[in-house]
Amino acid sequence: MARILTGIQASGRPHLGNILGAILPAVRVSQKPENESFLFIADLHAMTTIKSAQVMQENTRAVAAAWLAFGFDSDKNFFYRQSRLAGYHTELCWYLSCLTPYPMLANAHSFKDKSDRLADVNAGLFTYPVLQAADIVLYQANFVPVGKDQKQHLEMSKDMAEAFNRIYGDTFVLPEAVIDEQVMTIPGIDGNKMSKSYNNFLDIFLPEKDLYTVIKKIQTDSTPLEEPKNPDTCLVFTLFSLIAEAAQTQELRAKYEAGNFGYGHAKKELLDLILTRFAEERRLFNYYFDHPTALEEKLQEGEAKVRVIAEQTMQLVRERIGFI
Ligand code: TRP
Repeated sequence: MARILTGIQASGRPHLGNILGAILPAVRVSQKPENESFLFIADLHAMTTIKSAQVMQENTRAVAAAWLAFGFDSDKNFFYRQSRLAGYHTELCWYLSCLTPYPMLANAHSFKDKSDRLADVNAGLFTYPVLQAADIVLYQANFVPVGKDQKQHLEMSKDMAEAFNRIYGDTFVLPEAVIDEQVMTIPGIDGNKMSKSYNNFLDIFLPEKDLYTVIKKIQTDSTPLEEPKNPDTCLVFTLFSLIAEAAQTQELRAKYEAGNFGYGHAKKELLDLILTRFAEERRLFNYYFDHPTALEEKLQEGEAKVRVIAEQTMQLVRERIGFI
């Protein structure tokens, strides 16, 4: 049995890039019988930047609804909000911070990038990597799938676990980062990497009409309708092929190459593909998003399950430290 753990920074409604690049691969891993996946909303971490209760709530709701909609099985696995176990996470964060040398934290990219604007750096941002280490070792996770940007944080987590084990005796599993070097980059509607910050994303959960409006904005060239078109340089085709079955992609390719098929037609096909391929996910997302109590129930079930594990780890930790 391998324990796989990931924290998600909730930054609003996940877009197609988040779904194809992060949610679907993680859900696949979590479905394997030999894995146990711990997936949590890193809302304590989010507080380093988000200072609005409404934004915090909406982001949490959207992210949780999206993961459930894409089939993350919270009965087989563990799905929770970090803030609901804040007692354990922050307690362990404190213990680890007492073993963490100042220069290690001062050296973190996430902090160093802002060292020219120290007035904007809150203490939470500075100790961010320690809380992250606590998130991981609290549940004795073996593997932590993260993006390249988190590599250094994961090295620090392992260092902190090692330091604790060295001083107090073997207590924590040493976590390994799993970094997928060849993550697909999903292009946005302007051809740059799909991202919230570029405002070029496709929100597949939108009502049909609004979704179509965004799809119509996907940039294309000006080849006239009658002429054959090159699918391989067309964003609409690329996005279509990332979602479609191979046979559907072949069909669309043939239409491009035959001519008398315009980008407007291709966009309509992309819309129809999203609506059919993700019909169930769209329904579930909107169900959870509009029924906070159903979502709350799922999360609380997960929180009750992880609480047992967190309590177990912390009893051992306190004993090792000498708090009896
Ligand atoms: N720092 C991570 C990010 O920005 C989120 C995170 C918090 C996390 N705690 C974690 C990721 C523990 C993996 C494990 O993406």
